[in-house]
Amino acid sequence: MRNITLDNITDAVIKSMDGDIPARNREIMQAALKHMHAFMKEVNLSYDEWLGAMEWMRRAGEISSEARNEFILISDILGVEVLADMLDKKPTHDETISTVLGPFYRENPPVLPKGASIIQKDFEGQETVRVSGTIYDTEGNPVPGVTMDVWEDAPNGLYEQQDPDQPDFNLRGRFETDENGQYEFVAIRPVPYPIPYDGAAGELLKYMGHHPWRPGHIHFMISKDGYKGLISQIYDSETEYLDNDSVFAVKEDLIGKLEKAPEGADTDLVMTFDFKIRSNALVDSVAAE
Ligand code: BEZ
Ligand code: FE
Repeated sequence: MRNITLDNITDAVIKSMDGDIPARNREIMQAALKHMHAFMKEVNLSYDEWLGAMEWMRRAGEISSEARNEFILISDILGVEVLADMLDKKPTHDETISTVLGPFYRENPPVLPKGASIIQKDFEGQETVRVSGTIYDTEGNPVPGVTMDVWEDAPNGLYEQQDPDQPDFNLRGRFETDENGQYEFVAIRPVPYPIPYDGAAGELLKYMGHHPWRPGHIHFMISKDGYKGLISQIYDSETEYLDNDSVFAVKEDLIGKLEKAPEGADTDLVMTFDFKIRSNALVDSVAAE
């Protein structure tokens, strides 16, 4: 097409994809192009605004590394990671709802026995909490031998890999449910923290007039052969930002209650939280319907 105009530009680009490409590539790119061009027309995007966006993306690339993916942070504050998670992990049975993984997971955390503490360094004013519960299948049977990775920020609002003063793998652990499907570990009451906002994601938050804070939460990654994996978070019912999480990841069913520990207990608080996971057999039967 030689005479590109405001009216035919979208069709021209879509037509350029008439080669032998997978149908899914075509489906995704056609929709992306239609929405992107329509958005530019709707806001009558100026050339300077386009150039500003390109420079902003360059800065996002520049600050990204193995340890920091600025594009994930950007997608988080736009609600895009949580939307991808909700589209991909729609609960089909009565299983515990998932939420975002976030950028702070580390593989192979210390393997710890049931009831052990993930605290390697104490912070002034910290409150310790014994977290326990049962992992059930969606039929209500306890599931033994489930692997559970847990991780959380320290009372200074930093995950250990963000903070040279914390020991390696502080506030991380890998546990397994016992023969009754029960897990237990000792942690610190999680505090709200700002997602990293010294880069392009922070610039965008400012542009949008939003803050970077997340409510206090503990992350969980649950897996067992034969079951659908679960990545989720438990939120402290008393934390700030439950109603305005900067990454939109809070779900009512993931709010847990940290209560005062009984007299003589070795932690300040206790929290019970049960999970439900679904077996792959159930997933298959739903997919086959
Ligand atoms: C987190 O929960 O660790 C997290 C999620 C999204 C962006 C930043 C942090
Ligand atoms: Fe987090």
